[in-house]
Amino acid sequence: MLERYGHGGDLITAEAEYGRPAGGFLDFSSNMNPFGPPEVVGEIVQSGWREISRYPDPAVRELRRKLADKYDIEPESILVGNGAAELIDLAIRVLGPGATGIARPSFTEYEEAVVKIGGVTVDIPLHAESGFSPQEQAIREAVRQTDLVALGHPNNPTGQLLDPELMRALAREGVPLLLDEAFMDFVPDERAFSLLRDASRTPHVHVLRSMTKFYAIPGIRLGFIVSHPDSVRRLRERQVPWSVNYFAQRIGAAVLDDIEYEERTQRWLAEESVWLRAELGRLGLTVFPGRVNYVLFALPQRNPNRPLRVQEVQRRMGERGILIRDASRFRGLDDRYVRVAIKLRGENERLVQALEEVIRSIEAEEEGAR
Ligand SMILES: Cc1ncc(COP(=O)(O)O)c(C=O)c1O
Repeated sequence: MLERYGHGGDLITAEAEYGRPAGGFLDFSSNMNPFGPPEVVGEIVQSGWREISRYPDPAVRELRRKLADKYDIEPESILVGNGAAELIDLAIRVLGPGATGIARPSFTEYEEAVVKIGGVTVDIPLHAESGFSPQEQAIREAVRQTDLVALGHPNNPTGQLLDPELMRALAREGVPLLLDEAFMDFVPDERAFSLLRDASRTPHVHVLRSMTKFYAIPGIRLGFIVSHPDSVRRLRERQVPWSVNYFAQRIGAAVLDDIEYEERTQRWLAEESVWLRAELGRLGLTVFPGRVNYVLFALPQRNPNRPLRVQEVQRRMGERGILIRDASRFRGLDDRYVRVAIKLRGENERLVQALEEVIRSIEAEEEGAR
């Protein structure tokens, strides 16, 4: 099982499972920008190493100022963290909800953070029949039973966005919201959907962002949370000092200037998302709609006596050096479901070809066994 630690992108486990070096895999199991880190990241890492003999800025001033400029909000509304993962944990610890409404399926860290503080979760079920789109009635039902609603916007693994007007209406009604926009920068026209600016003036609304996915720097760890300055102050009081290291601060500030990288990423995704979704559909997979850099699909069940299971498909793909995400590890999905990142064309072609061969070979074995 690849998701031993609950996440994708675990190349050390893949090495042990499939017997090839960690660097030898084509990794579709975690959703990184396939262009890799912007050039400037290499320059900073090489030239900046002597700086680590000093402490980083405890207030992360330069990066906060640049983020504030980019999103047209006040720096006091921003707290930077050691990845969005740190800030999910911090926000839940500080907000301290007894009960939290969580979409099923969604990123597992929301529930884990809630359980760690002794809280309980209330499901907001998402259904395949509606393309896993979050329904207002289900959200409102959870609102009535909880102290906080924590939702992915867009959601992982389904890729669906929330209705921003519904979120604004809930915010006006005083509903405490934690919205995870870790993948929002991949969404075309993100400003039409993001609630970041609303959060910057609303004490009970928190919006999370990650910089590790769009800029392909998960090893550096970098994310931020936006809320009203009073709420941000409360979060900062409980954050570990110097949680954002020197390289993360400098890299974060520098990558924001790389507009060419941003535009290239948007152009690539617009094209490749359409291509890959069409190709997966051609294989007979049920592909769910989404506007991000990953795709959720269900395996075809052409033989009811021996349904195709994600674990077997994942293993056979892994043996070929291609890692895919077993989406049955997300509560609310079963073992028909797979999530893959969208990568560059040549890599996507290899994924499609290998998937086709693996599915065909399993189905042919079924035929032979009859
Ligand atoms: C939906 C979602 N939120 C947050 C995170 C954490 O991101 P970071 O690398 O910034 O900690 C992830 C990582 O996979 C994610 O999928």
